[in-house]
Amino acid sequence: MQVFVILPAAGLGTRMATGGAARHAPKQFLELHGQPILVLTVRAFLRVSAVHRIFVAARKSEMQRVESQLREHGLLDKVSVVEGGDTRQESVWNAMKALPAAEEDMVLVHDAVRPLIDSATIERTIEAVEHYHAAIVAVPAVDTIKQVERTADGAIITSTIPRERIVLAQTPQGFQFRLLRQAMEAAEMDGFAGTDEASLVERLGIEVAVVLGSPRNFKITQPGDLTLAEFYLSQS
Ligand code: C5P
Repeated sequence: MQVFVILPAAGLGTRMATGGAARHAPKQFLELHGQPILVLTVRAFLRVSAVHRIFVAARKSEMQRVESQLREHGLLDKVSVVEGGDTRQESVWNAMKALPAAEEDMVLVHDAVRPLIDSATIERTIEAVEHYHAAIVAVPAVDTIKQVERTADGAIITSTIPRERIVLAQTPQGFQFRLLRQAMEAAEMDGFAGTDEASLVERLGIEVAVVLGSPRNFKITQPGDLTLAEFYLSQS
């Protein structure tokens, strides 16, 4: 059984583009401690010996830039760059089609913009997928979660969801290759768009296990997030 990693990195990073140096820069190209975020994420997975090969999905116009960045950092040996799509789901699907994986192999999908993932969490996810065939990293909710209906002025609460029944999904999200392919094919056929891979598997009635993550493994989304990530990196 081999472990493949897909890093969707074809987002536009529009939420990051609020000004300053970040303007027009897709967030996976921004630097932390002098290294592009994508390079840090790739390195995090290469530190795990079970990882066989990494596939990065990049926008067509950025594929060359990504490849030269990875070459510059000596990472192209175990990493391939494939073309991403207009949505995260499409980017992952394109990468899935490029994987030289066998049915029983494992795929871990991880947001390129979560560079602070640690080896122990990746290893625990791999163990959980070996056991359950589908597992994702998530953290308990610390805030109280409200369901709302959007209004012209904002939103009105319709219910409060018991916090102990909530976890916040992160990545990696890992699956047996055959299972994720089946879920993605079904989603494509039904026109279902999900914001993560687990939702595609859940809708087939298949159980997905949860591995406890940490707040450190957050998704770099807004400008202030870079400062927080720099802080975490300086601690390690
Ligand atoms: O912007 P969002 O939070 O959805 O991004 C999550 C991850 O999915 C990011 O690493 C981003 O680059 C990636 N993505 C992608 N293709 C898209 C949109 C997002 O690979 N079309």
